Amino acid sequence: MHIQTAAVHTLKDFEHGAVVPPVHMASTFELDRSTDSGAFAYQRGANPTRAQLETVLAALDGAEHGFAFASGMAATAAALSVLAQGDEIILPASVYGGTYRFVDRVLSTRGVTARFVDDLADLTDEDLTPATRAIFVETPANPTLRITDLRAIIALAHRHDALVIVDNTFMTPVLQRPLDLGADLVIQSATKYLAGLSDLLAGAVTTNDAALAEAIHLAQVATGGVLAPLDSFRLIQAIKTVPLRLERQQENTRALIEHLRTRPEVAVVNFAGSHSEEEARLHASQAAGIGAVLSFELAEGLNSTAFLRALRYPAFAVSLGGVETLICRPATMTHEAMTPEARQQAGISDELLRLSVGIEDIADLIEDLDQALDAARG
Ligand SMILES: Cc1ncc(COP(=O)(O)O)c(C=O)c1O
Repeated sequence: MHIQTAAVHTLKDFEHGAVVPPVHMASTFELDRSTDSGAFAYQRGANPTRAQLETVLAALDGAEHGFAFASGMAATAAALSVLAQGDEIILPASVYGGTYRFVDRVLSTRGVTARFVDDLADLTDEDLTPATRAIFVETPANPTLRITDLRAIIALAHRHDALVIVDNTFMTPVLQRPLDLGADLVIQSATKYLAGLSDLLAGAVTTNDAALAEAIHLAQVATGGVLAPLDSFRLIQAIKTVPLRLERQQENTRALIEHLRTRPEVAVVNFAGSHSEEEARLHASQAAGIGAVLSFELAEGLNSTAFLRALRYPAFAVSLGGVETLICRPATMTHEAMTPEARQQAGISDELLRLSVGIEDIADLIEDLDQALDAARG
């Protein structure tokens, strides 16, 4: 089954012939009076509507197990809960700011050591120690859009019995399925492309490993950061149009890249595969499209504040993946938890702007960017 069909048809045959699933709001369920058990007992552990969403999440990733959380960070925290005192995790310096904050300020207090590296591509067998329990990957990276070779990192980690955890938020299973390549855990902020309308906070974890699935379920039960039934239903519905939305968002992204490159006011445009031929080849070998996020810097001497003020359509806001185009300044809006040195190390200058491209008519987006670039010249 192709992914657009899976997004629509994974769930079916509902009561009364309904073509969308019912919403079960129950927090508690009657148990069998002779066995004291039942398929569902209490919502934190499992709920029929969340279970249906989890089936869809697993199907999209080609996974055995799927889990829904109340946010991408709750999903990330659950995935990282497999680390214990004495373990080390290796992450790219450019990792999402919230993940950086969690690892730096929370995981460190649990006796887990984090090692941030400039480029995962530079890792060799000598860099992994017996304590190395996991390598965390985001490809493309946010907001630099640098590409990591998933196959190479997975092979390296597995030679040392370490796990590979991939944050696949920017790609979604529509464009990239890391579990197919051997990754151990995949997380997503479903707030972004899966929800797609900037009106829902949610997170997903998928895995093919039964022991890891048990650990993720334990995180649901033990810490309770699960997705509520109504939001689970809304996400089931939103997921049906993810492939369609991404098709349009990518079409707009390609057109904007072409256009921005013709404007002398734009110094550099970053997108998945833009950094080198090698990264373009790698990305094409592990993903089915460039996604819909790009970042860029204006030419020296231009006023980015004037540019931002002049823009009519893109909202000046964090987040990404919605149908409306958003623009943000990562240094102060998404990666402010990093030190200036760490940002510099990750290639995130104070002037870098990130665009999450929506589904608007491309002619309007281009016209708007053009007039804002004119305004930036003063
Ligand atoms: C790559 C990435 N991972 C994780 C998260 C966290 O997700 P949430 O905001 O849903 O908690 C974000 C949010 O911006 C993100 O961009």
